[in-house]
Formats: sequence, C-alpha cells, structure tokens
Amino acid sequence: MTEGRGPKDELDLLAEAVSRALAADGLSACSEETIREIRCPANVGRMCDADGEGVADGLCGDTIEMYVKVRGDRIADCTFFTDGCGPTIASGSRLTRLVKGMTLEDARGVTPRTIVSLLDGLPDDHEHCAALAVMALRNALRDFAGRSNGTGGGQ
Ligand code: FES
Repeated sequence: MTEGRGPKDELDLLAEAVSRALAADGLSACSEETIREIRCPANVGRMCDADGEGVADGLCGDTIEMYVKVRGDRIADCTFFTDGCGPTIASGSRLTRLVKGMTLEDARGVTPRTIVSLLDGLPDDHEHCAALAVMALRNALRDFAGRSNGTGGGQ
C-alpha cells in the first residue's frame, strides 16, 4: 500500500485513471454497464481503518487494492483503489457494490465470471481485470481472517 498520500492525492490519481480509461481506444468494445461504472465508480478510496486489506498485481502492471470492514459475519463496507485500466475500475466498483452486506462465506464465493456477467461482459483481453479485483477481495478476506485469529493476516 502506498503510505503518506492524502485523500486529495488519491482522488487525483483516480481521476487521472478514469480520464485515461475514457480516452483510451477500446472502450467502445465495453458494454454500457461497464462504461457507466467507469464514469461513476462507487466506493472508491483507501480505507484507513479497514478490518482487512488485499492487493492484486496484474501481469499488465496494473494494481488494485480492496478494503473491507466486517461486522459479525457480514461485510459492512468495502472500498477499492486502482491505478489500472477502465475495466479494472468498473470491476472494482461493481464488486464492492455486490459484496456490501454479504456474508463472508458468500463473498468468498464470488468469481470473476460473476463480475463479468454483472458488467454485461468485458472485452476478452480485459477479463483478467475482473479476476484481479476478485483476487484482491479474497486477499482482503484472508487478511481479515488472519487478524481475527491472531495470526496477523498477511497477503
Ligand atoms: Fe490489466 Fe485491466 S488491463 S487490470
């Protein structure tokens, strides 16, 4: 995780990522649902008091971070942050909206296919973006479980 960044820095970085994504060729291959999530992403930002956090790095060089707050056996809050492409922004946004309120068990069962389907499909060369978001969430849930049982979590 990057430390020492303020909220404005994060918003600036995300705004740059969204601008890059919207300007990039290939967005025309995205569904309306995906473009809507890119233009207006939900639950963006690093969570300083998260109960669990996870990162996933793609071979493409993109990174996505996921943060969860847990109450009982449910995800009370979930946010994401990425420096990645448009479909990664869309996947992170859709995934956070999906898992908020879910039980931990159900959240662990979410697959990349679920996200691709909720986005009405992703271009073939961007399906890994959904996988990256799901991997970061699973790492965050693993981190939470580690903290809860006293092993200190970890990625
Ligand atoms: Fe790599 Fe989207 S192109 S995560």
